[in-house]
Amino acid sequence: MRIAVFNTKPYDREFLAEASARSGRHEPTFLEPLLSSATAKLADGFPVTCAFVNDCLDAAVLEILAAGGTKLIALRCAGFNNVDLGAAARLGIRVVRVPAYSPYAVAEHTVGMMLTLNRKFHKAYNRVREGNFALDGLLGFDMHGKTVGVVGTGKIGECVVRILLGFGCRVLAYDPFENETIKQLGAKYVAPAALLAECDIVTLHCPLTPESYHLFDERRLALMKPGAMLINTGRGGLLDTSAVVRALKSGRLGSLGIDVYEEEADLFFVDHSHHAILDDVFSRLLTFPNVLVTGHQAFFTREALEAIAATTIANVDQFAAGEKLTNEVKG
Ligand code: NAI
Repeated sequence: MRIAVFNTKPYDREFLAEASARSGRHEPTFLEPLLSSATAKLADGFPVTCAFVNDCLDAAVLEILAAGGTKLIALRCAGFNNVDLGAAARLGIRVVRVPAYSPYAVAEHTVGMMLTLNRKFHKAYNRVREGNFALDGLLGFDMHGKTVGVVGTGKIGECVVRILLGFGCRVLAYDPFENETIKQLGAKYVAPAALLAECDIVTLHCPLTPESYHLFDERRLALMKPGAMLINTGRGGLLDTSAVVRALKSGRLGSLGIDVYEEEADLFFVDHSHHAILDDVFSRLLTFPNVLVTGHQAFFTREALEAIAATTIANVDQFAAGEKLTNEVKG
């Protein structure tokens, strides 16, 4: 099947081309542009459109894709908050995703962010290279014995819980659907307010939905333990970033680690080092010494890219064969 693969980088092409060659049944065309209403016509004549986290799949884009013959959207990511599922159903376009590829990749990056903010590896790296071996300003805390809150205990949240318990942390969790394994491991489910009040570190692993949009707003941030660390490797829209900036300015929030940002589509995955960054909220975040930003790289391991490509092609295989779509997303 002909697949229009939007928003590709060299690493996407490498892994998808390998998986596609193994299947031997598809013809991917790799396109550089992000999918938007301005670029959707590039998929004319392709029954399958493959897209990533920051591609726009709103009703307007889906209408252009449907008119061009797209019958299947193959998301090469887990989250599907960027797809108007109602519009897709109305237009007869089916949507598949990659529900799991490497929860370890995201979980390990998350804990790496906690350790970096705590032990200040980013500052130590630069200091030592300049011959500065002073320790002032690098003081951290033992993870052992600290209370960490995990919001969303699905595949990634569960991996994070396992790692944190290995450090000797006390782990509190919140999820509207409790996971028995989490309890057996020794973490405790509590109400959101109790989690916020008690935790030294809070980390977010829930999807972005209309209910979780700006989950951490002014009110919830004010419920957090003063000086706590907040980590978001979920989706940018989980945080009201302007409220987070205010909490950092007041010192209420002790530190922040984010791999995702609500306006990241205009920034991430591209080299902007030769231009001014026009997003003032994002620029303000970068001025804080206690803020660590990575550009949506938590998933970025070899194992994850291999699994993403394999599942994406397997999803298209099922569609081409008229089989049940195991990883279909419905509204
Ligand atoms: P999952 O579906 O296995 O688990 C999500 C959990 O969140 C579920 O247990 C669900 O009940 C819970 N949940 C839903 N709404 C909630 C709420 N309002 N409060 C608390 N919990 C809630 O998903 P998985 O694989 O663990 O991924 C989690 C999220 O991580 C994805 O939705 C995606 O947005 C993000 N992600 C980020 C990546 C990155 O590179 N930064 C890569 C992959 C996923």
